[in-house]
Amino acid sequence: MKTVLLIGANGMMGRAARTGLGRHTVITASRSGAECDHQVDLTDSASIRALFETVGQVDAVVNTVGLCEYAPFLDMTEDQWRTTVDSKMMGQINLVRIGAPFVRDAGSFTLISGILNVKPVPLAIADAVTSGAIDTFVRCVAHEMPRGIRINVVNPTVLDEAWEVYGEMMPGFQPVPGALVGKAFERAVDGFISGQVLFVDA
Ligand SMILES: NC(=O)c1ccc[n+]([C@@H]2O[C@H](COP(=O)([O-])OP(=O)(O)OC[C@H]3O[C@@H](n4cnc5c(N)ncnc54)[C@H](OP(=O)(O)O)[C@@H]3O)[C@@H](O)[C@H]2O)c1
Repeated sequence: MKTVLLIGANGMMGRAARTGLGRHTVITASRSGAECDHQVDLTDSASIRALFETVGQVDAVVNTVGLCEYAPFLDMTEDQWRTTVDSKMMGQINLVRIGAPFVRDAGSFTLISGILNVKPVPLAIADAVTSGAIDTFVRCVAHEMPRGIRINVVNPTVLDEAWEVYGEMMPGFQPVPGALVGKAFERAVDGFISGQVLFVDA
């Protein structure tokens, strides 16, 4: 049994991740802290540091937070880009940078991206670009992780549970059950792979 810190636990992807973490002790966090053990703002380095100082050493960190703005490219403002970059890209990079000393030897990080960087759709340019950045970050930073710490990213298509929200902007996509995406999180946390992008697509 491992101690796993799950961030974004009360969101749709957080609930999907949780289906794959049933064997472990899961410590939960989110921005509001609603239904979670802790509150954290992934866009604020001090808040990330405070979370790790409160929780202490863990075996695995799983992040499912990555707030994205959606708009046509020519309408998307710099502020909307900044919001997406600060959360989905820098938030996750800072989580690894600040959190690494709090992860035990041979522990792991698992991050979130999303299929739109390989299957683009209108309105989703910021999500696609930051997902691509995180896939690249994971592939490359894996070589620099200390003490046998592994790092992977789950890159899923849209969840069944989210089809009502995103279905209209994703015609021709086949959603997948959260429990299937949970298997990818399980493979990342319980396996021995590192530097991998775990695609979950139909
Ligand atoms: N849903 C899908 O089908 C799907 C598919 C592929 C990829 N993804 C990716 O998965 C990620 C999460 O999507 P989701 O559908 O789970 O969204 P969601 O249901 O809206 O959940 C978002 C989660 O993130 C937390 N959060 C937001 N901003 C935060 C911050 N600054 N600090 C800490 N926590 C924060 C929320 O906490 P509070 O509720 O407490 O505010 C909530 O737990 C996104 O990057 C999305 O692109 C989603």
